[in-house]
Amino acid sequence: MTAKAGPATRLVRWNGGEMLARLDDVLAVYVTAMNYSPEILSIRRGFVAGHTRRSEFRAVATLEEGTGRVLGFGYGYLSGPGQWWHEQVRSGLSDDHYDRWMGDAFELVELHVLPRAQGTGLGEAQLRALLDGAPGATVILSTPEGESRAWRLYRRLGFVDVLRHHLFPGDERPFAVLGRPLPLEPGR
Ligand SMILES: CC(C)(COP(=O)(O)OP(=O)(O)OC[C@H]1O[C@@H](n2cnc3c(N)ncnc32)[C@H](O)[C@@H]1OP(=O)(O)O)[C@@H](O)C(=O)NCCC(=O)NCCS
Repeated sequence: MTAKAGPATRLVRWNGGEMLARLDDVLAVYVTAMNYSPEILSIRRGFVAGHTRRSEFRAVATLEEGTGRVLGFGYGYLSGPGQWWHEQVRSGLSDDHYDRWMGDAFELVELHVLPRAQGTGLGEAQLRALLDGAPGATVILSTPEGESRAWRLYRRLGFVDVLRHHLFPGDERPFAVLGRPLPLEPGR
């Protein structure tokens, strides 16, 4: 494979307050990367702002050198009982599976890179940085079923199936829940 040159970038870590300060930029990356309608932004904004206050919240972002533009970001926190996503996934798991995968889990909530900056390893760098020192015995996430760059990345980093073809209320697309033990070995 010939390495594709990307823009000059800088990877930064953000706490909740720092991500809130760039919330407009983060949400713009989110809707562009996911190809969602901007109409969902007002609802999503409230959810994301609330996430920054959850236990062990941590975020990373890729900034363009010079301009400081946000080219990508990722965030997560400790997944806990009572949270909407946590309970949705729990409903699809046996008790044993739940204890194993969700008893002490870091939830990767969002990971996105602007289309123009994809394909040069920024997403992988963001994921590695986010998981470096993250709390929890496992990391878990959900992603739409079907071949995608996100799937290739997660498989490459050793994520395995936790739950497949799960339907979340309000979304017609089936999702896979994937997970792996923590820590993630460097260079895996
Ligand atoms: C998923 C996503 C975050 C991955 O980010 P990315 O920067 O595009 O992806 P990666 O870091 O995995 O790198 C992508 C490619 O660059 C290659 N690459 C990795 N390191 C590289 C490097 N140093 N130099 C050049 N290429 C490199 C990888 O081999 C990979 O190839 P492949 O995807 O063809 O297999 C991004 O594609 C995205 O935002 N997608 C849309 C939103 C989405 O699906 N988010 C996840 C929802 S769960």
